[in-house]
Amino acid sequence: MISKFTIQRINDEARVEDVVGEFVTLKKRGSNLLGLCPFHNEKTPSFNVNPARNIYKCFGCGKAGGPIQFLIDYQQLSYPDALRYLAKKYNIEIEEEAVSDEEKQKEQERHNLAESIHIANTFAQKFFTDYMLHNEAGRIGLAYFKERGFNQQTIEKFQLGFAPDGFDVFTKHALKEGFQLEVLKKAGLTSSKENSTLDFFRNRVMFPIHNMTGKVVGFGGRIMVKDEKAPKYVNTPESEVYQKSKILYGAYFAKNEIRKQDECLLVEGYTDVISLHQAGIENAVASSGTALTPDQIRLVKRITPNITMLYDGDAAGIKAALRGTDLILEEGMSVRVVILPDSEDPDSFVRKTGADGFTQFVKQNRKDLILFKTSLLAEEAKKDPIKKAELIRDILESIGKIPDAIQRSVYVKECSQLFDMSEQVLITEVNKLRRKKLKEQQKAEQTDAAQTTANDAAQEDTLPATFHQEQFNQQTKNVGVLERDVVRILLEFGAWQIPVDDDMISVATYVFDELEGIELETETYKALYELFRREWEGGNLPDDKFFTGNDNEQISKTAIELLAQPYSLSENWWNKYKIVVPEKKHVFVKDIQSAILRLKQYRNISELKKVERLIKDTTDENELIKLMKLHKLLTEQKKEFARTVGNVVYRPVT
Ligand code: CTP
Ligand code: MN
Repeated sequence: MISKFTIQRINDEARVEDVVGEFVTLKKRGSNLLGLCPFHNEKTPSFNVNPARNIYKCFGCGKAGGPIQFLIDYQQLSYPDALRYLAKKYNIEIEEEAVSDEEKQKEQERHNLAESIHIANTFAQKFFTDYMLHNEAGRIGLAYFKERGFNQQTIEKFQLGFAPDGFDVFTKHALKEGFQLEVLKKAGLTSSKENSTLDFFRNRVMFPIHNMTGKVVGFGGRIMVKDEKAPKYVNTPESEVYQKSKILYGAYFAKNEIRKQDECLLVEGYTDVISLHQAGIENAVASSGTALTPDQIRLVKRITPNITMLYDGDAAGIKAALRGTDLILEEGMSVRVVILPDSEDPDSFVRKTGADGFTQFVKQNRKDLILFKTSLLAEEAKKDPIKKAELIRDILESIGKIPDAIQRSVYVKECSQLFDMSEQVLITEVNKLRRKKLKEQQKAEQTDAAQTTANDAAQEDTLPATFHQEQFNQQTKNVGVLERDVVRILLEFGAWQIPVDDDMISVATYVFDELEGIELETETYKALYELFRREWEGGNLPDDKFFTGNDNEQISKTAIELLAQPYSLSENWWNKYKIVVPEKKHVFVKDIQSAILRLKQYRNISELKKVERLIKDTTDENELIKLMKLHKLLTEQKKEFARTVGNVVYRPVT
């Protein structure tokens, strides 16, 4: 188990902008950074990274967290793995504490296995490369690559290699070097057959497959001669560590250029990627023969919204071009298609034309996906009305999946011209399809936490800045919002000093004094509030990081949630001062007073209602007298509150 001390250090050193920036393109926006949210579909960026607070928050889908949470949510790492990842990134030595229970042991074992598999893969890659370059029997592999036109530099960059012919040359060697058979099997490097073991890859040229961070996670092995009986490629079997659907071949080498060009070229095969890179076209990746998966699309989307798919000019290639493309549209990406001349694939074509010719061809021949699909199929359907109807429906369905309304209407217009149909009819149809889809989505999301966040935010938006008695009844439902304001102020400004009665006291002291004897109702806010109060009573004024990096997930989640949408003070002065300067104090103190008063006022009114109910119900004379007294007191307080709140609230009535 990773020690508390290490976790603390990691929390101190990990920078959210570094960690997120590895996977999401971020642009500076004021003191924050903005990018496309990696957790949901969007075209305009609402994913906010706040370096000062070390947190991110998407204002679209509500996902929020710090560096660790990002790795957990985005890379699907476990908590300890996220810590290890960060420790490695920031060169922090991990101090382990004694394993205390079985669960932790298992986690450790799981991690150890993943780590062992990675080490085995790296070892295998080196072995295959070494065997190809330095072993007499491996030369045949090198000759194959040379024959295909790959130069030395390319072979090194992509770490190509050769898996020996024979039964278990690699496995034997790995075992001799101390690798456990279990690990080799789990890595998919060794398979077993009737009580004996054999190499999974034999007599094949080897393409290591790297993940986004450059680790070798699997291999593709190509046969060198045409053989009807043997598969052309053999790939590492799917496992917990290697999932083909989540990997794009070449993405590690291509990601920088994709970002620079703001475009990703998508091809089919390993050799296409390698040839293009060798020619200097370095924004190419491959889906490795399968239709593009949602995970792969998101991988690209984190870097650019523009995908250009390159396909062979044969019928199969064209069909393939249309497979899975609705998924890309759904992600709000712009998709273009290039069909290469007959019987060419990107590999052969770029070798023929060179980089410039290739790029030019792509530029001149790329077609918008929907228009491509339309014109292609329109030809087919010309004489067949049933086919035509089907085709229109198909295309409208594609259009319906585009998140951006303006873009949709552009396509609708084009289609109405192409098919000579009324635009209005097409719009109605697209909208119908969209409504259907939305309904399905809503069903799926009903229990989603994101919904809760959205509702919360919506409630908050409608909360009046100034108090009105009529509005109070609506507000009482929103005690959570009032409590949230108070806790948020505590988190953000708790340690700041404000002048009160000619004295300087901390905001925390002010809040706790004012709210003495009051318990918060909302569980999550109460937990934070009480934690802060305990610290405060112990003489500490914890800062926001104490909460956002807190071990208790409920605490850290709530804190991040609150701080991601900072309490909006009346004037924008807080960046400059940590101590409230006299001319600003008016506004600042009033904001805090207002939040506290509103909460107290809520208390007062709900108390009053309770007393009124009791008065109605009681039959005991003495009890009634007591209640009447209390009622009078509360009513006076109520008036007082109304007056003070009116005075204190600074923001104009809306
Ligand atoms: N593929 C596979 N298994 C096969 C055939 C293909 O996994 N039996 C995958 C590989 O990732 C391959 C891609 O599909 O790279 C495209 O297939 P293909 O065009 O046949 O291979 P190329 O990579 O173009 O190989 P080559 O140029 O050597 O024919
Ligand atoms: Mn090929």
